[in-house]
Amino acid sequence: MKTIFSGIQPSGTLTIGNYLGAIKQFVELQHDHQCYFCIVDHHAITVPQDPKQLKEHIRSLAALYIASGIDPDKATLFVQSDVSAHTELGWMLQSMTYMGELERMTQFKDKSEGRSAVSSALFTYPALMAADILLYQANIVPVGDDQTQHLEITRDVAERFNNRFGKTFTMPDIKIPQVGARIMSLQEPTKKMSKSDENVRGFISMLDTPKQMEKKIKSAVTDSDGVVAFDQENKPGVSNLLSLYSACTKKTIDEAVAHFANKRYGDFKAEIAETVVQTLTPIQARYEELINSTELDDILVNGNKKAAEVANDTLTKAKKKMGLGK
Ligand code: AQP
Repeated sequence: MKTIFSGIQPSGTLTIGNYLGAIKQFVELQHDHQCYFCIVDHHAITVPQDPKQLKEHIRSLAALYIASGIDPDKATLFVQSDVSAHTELGWMLQSMTYMGELERMTQFKDKSEGRSAVSSALFTYPALMAADILLYQANIVPVGDDQTQHLEITRDVAERFNNRFGKTFTMPDIKIPQVGARIMSLQEPTKKMSKSDENVRGFISMLDTPKQMEKKIKSAVTDSDGVVAFDQENKPGVSNLLSLYSACTKKTIDEAVAHFANKRYGDFKAEIAETVVQTLTPIQARYEELINSTELDDILVNGNKKAAEVANDTLTKAKKKMGLGK
């Protein structure tokens, strides 16, 4: 059975982009893979976080994973900072990662742009992400397409380590969904939808009320053509809404375009909103049951323990290969 690892940052409430690009495929993959799904809180602190809010976001993210369909009997769900092997191997891999490689990361460029105090962790975090994946000897990493560069660096570092110290890590492959791999901001459809976007109208949070979702989709930026067609370059707003619809309904883009042929933008948006509400409402109902339950604590305690066993085993091997320790 192949092993899967993927993580999500508790840097805000998850968006429908996180759901369609990441969690939805996790749910499908858990049935026939050994899965490790992580709440990567060490990654979240690469930009300033309010401690109280961060704690809430960690718990909320755990509840959303389960409410979306992650089965703790099938997949191991855990918190990164509760498994210390991540930061240990992350440090070791920093010593194998080159400045030039880190300087090329577009996510670093995007997130540091316009900031006066940029943390060194924001710069070096691809080494920590490599550690996250390699600790579990993952064969497959399901992610949205914004993570392609990070996966490339992970593979390069793993290969470098294996070549220098002998085979230690499995080479992971990326898995990107066919639709929903990059849901764009509703307000700036040439920019990725992000949970930490300061413009809350740009994203649909998985916990938005139906009214909020309808309002945000109604005010989504489109164009003045009045024709529902898929053309990401010239009609990014309409194309993004079609991608949203297609990822929620599992219809192809062509089927989605045919479905909305001759519809006016108002009707088109109303149906997209209805589809998004229908997708998220059952998840929200389960979330409400979980968020204050001890069931959630038990799932995380158990997941942390299971993850630590596997991670510590790999860490011990890697330390030995590098000549670290007594
Ligand atoms: N807009 C998106 N469309 C499709 N997939 C997406 N993902 C993120 N945004 C989209 C996928 O969600 C997973 C978790 O992402 P993350 O939280 O680890 O980091 P991120 O990619 O930086 O996500 P955000 O929402 O943009 O967070 P912030 O605002 O904190 O930077 C990944 O698999 C990602 O591909």
